[in-house]
Amino acid sequence: MLPERVRKCLQTDFFGKTILRFHKVTSTNDIAKELAAKGAEEGTVVIAETQTQGRGRIGRRWVSPTGGIWFSTVLRPDMTPTDALKLTLTAAVAVARAIRDTLELNAEIKWPNDVLIGGRKVCGILTEMSTRGQMVDFITLGIGINANVDLAAFPENLRSSTTSLRKELGREVDRERLLQALLEELESQYKIFVQQGFGQILKEWKSLATFLSSYVEVAVYDEKISGFATDVDRNGALLIKTEDGIIRKVTSGDVILQRH
Ligand code: BTN
Repeated sequence: MLPERVRKCLQTDFFGKTILRFHKVTSTNDIAKELAAKGAEEGTVVIAETQTQGRGRIGRRWVSPTGGIWFSTVLRPDMTPTDALKLTLTAAVAVARAIRDTLELNAEIKWPNDVLIGGRKVCGILTEMSTRGQMVDFITLGIGINANVDLAAFPENLRSSTTSLRKELGREVDRERLLQALLEELESQYKIFVQQGFGQILKEWKSLATFLSSYVEVAVYDEKISGFATDVDRNGALLIKTEDGIIRKVTSGDVILQRH
C-alpha cells in the first residue's frame, strides 16, 4: 500500500491529509490512539499491512493477514459518547457505498456495522473513544476490509461466513484506489452527519441494510433475543419484536440471521 498513491488526486479537506503507513503493528487503532493523544489532527490515517493484535467488536480478535486494508482514522467530533454508535453506522454507509461505486459489488450492511457481500462478511468497523468530561475527546475509527486476503489464513470456523473482495470479483483489487474512494466517501458522510444530523444517514443506512424485517437472533452478553428486526431507531439501536409481541431495544451485540 503506497500512501502517495492514495493521496494523489485525493479529493478531501481533511481525511487522509496525513497518512502513516506501517508494515506490522499490534493494531492500527493503538497507533491512531497514541497519535490522537499527542494531538494528531482530525482525519489522520494509520495503515498497516498486517496487525499482530487486530481487534474486533465485543473483545474479539480480528484476523489481519497481508492483502487487506487495515486502517484507523482519528476523529474529533463535538458529541456525547452515546452518539458514537451513530458514527459507526455512518462509517458502514461510507464503506458499502465505496465498494458499490468503485467495484460494482452488491455490498450490504448488517447491524450495526458489518459490511457483507452475498451474506458473507467483507468488512468490520470498530470505533473506540476517549472522553473528556461528558464529551468525546477523540474517536479512533478502525476499518478492516478483506480486500486481497487469502481466506485460508482465517480460522476454519470463520471461513464460511467470511469473504474477500478478490474472491467476489475474481481478480485483485486496487487497494489504493479503493481506499482513496473510501476516504472521500467517509468525509462526505461524516460532514452530512455533523452538519445535518443522523436522519439522512439513517435513511441511507436502512436502504443498504437488507436484514431488516428478517427473523434474527441477537446475542447480547449472556442473553439471546430472537424475533423480527423491525427497525433501527433514531439513535441507531436495533428494535426487535419478540414472539410475545414485546419490542426490545438492542444497542450492542451480534445479529445472526435465522430461518423462520
Ligand atoms: C468487527 O467487525 O468486529 C470490527 C473489526 C475491525 C477491524 C479493524 S482493522 C483496522 C482496525 N484495527 C483493529 O485492530 N481493528 C480495526
